[in-house]
Amino acid sequence: MKGLILSGGKGTRLRPITHTGAKQLIPVANRPILFYAIDALTQAGIHEIGIIVGDTADEVRAAVGDGSKFGATITFIPQEAPLGLAHAVGIARDFLAGDSFVMYLGDNLIAQGIGTLVDEFQRSAADTMILLARVPEPQRFGVAELEDGRVISLVEKPSVPRSDLALVGVYLFSPLIFEAIDAIEPSPRGELEITDAIQRMIDTGKRVLPHIIEGWWKDTGRLDDILEANRMILDTLEARCDGTVGEDVRLHGKVVVEEGATLRNCVVRGPAIIGSRTIVDNAYIGPFTSIYFDCLVRNAEIENSIVLEGTRIHDIAGKIDGSLIGKECEVCKSPARPTAVRLMLGDHSRVEL
Ligand code: G1P
Repeated sequence: MKGLILSGGKGTRLRPITHTGAKQLIPVANRPILFYAIDALTQAGIHEIGIIVGDTADEVRAAVGDGSKFGATITFIPQEAPLGLAHAVGIARDFLAGDSFVMYLGDNLIAQGIGTLVDEFQRSAADTMILLARVPEPQRFGVAELEDGRVISLVEKPSVPRSDLALVGVYLFSPLIFEAIDAIEPSPRGELEITDAIQRMIDTGKRVLPHIIEGWWKDTGRLDDILEANRMILDTLEARCDGTVGEDVRLHGKVVVEEGATLRNCVVRGPAIIGSRTIVDNAYIGPFTSIYFDCLVRNAEIENSIVLEGTRIHDIAGKIDGSLIGKECEVCKSPARPTAVRLMLGDHSRVEL
């Protein structure tokens, strides 16, 4: 089996962060989301992995490297334009070279991993296995309809869903998927849809197995989903302190202090993680907060948030909550009178006051 991770995509629902960076590299508990996908494959015994890359190819390549740090061999496959998930699989045909494979959307997180699913697929001799999860808003996803335990239809983001079973972004395929991809036409939104290719497998009598997952799963396409993923992953961490923590610091619960971080005169309530070389001084870091590397949090309070590298938050009254703050931002007290909120925000930013 091989692995194919899709890491193109524009991440429009996470602008402005995705104007300047790949959504798959947004850190969750201080680790890029994409790395959890690579881990899921290697933990399932899959070490030959292709990654489909788009506009953010250089950044993804730089972060992942050749795969040796994950115990994997990584091949990058450029997709010239986001022409759909089935198109992405189609351009990986040479890399996949007749093997069965797991296709993994690089912004998905599955708490339980995929080891048992890969075993089940291999034992079943099915042509395709799709993962499904019951969700409250199925219209946001590909939706499956089952009858007697068999998949009878798949529709991409239907306005009137026929069930609450959403397609999780992990699929297992035999090479027969390529025949189906060759036979389908672009959808009304101009993309070759993987749901249409799987529907074609069903219609031509191939064995398409559904597997409903019970554990936690998240498509991290939106801010609330990323923050929830951050909460879930932080909760699984073990407390660790590799930085410098002053005697006037109180750490409660699961707190990870990464190498070279410095904490002075502050309270950190876990689960939380403070990244390398970050300084936290006279501050409160509340539960479910991830501060990445080279940041400063001084005279400020923050919780339930993700802060990317190089950002400085200082001298703020009131607590920051439920926020995703990008790289090298500065959030601080306005120095001049009249007292006012002064903003310099990138396009598509969102501020709630
Ligand atoms: C894609 C698929 C959809 C699936 C979802 C899971 O949608 O097209 O069928 O349910 O991933 O994450 P996207 O998130 O790319 O809009």
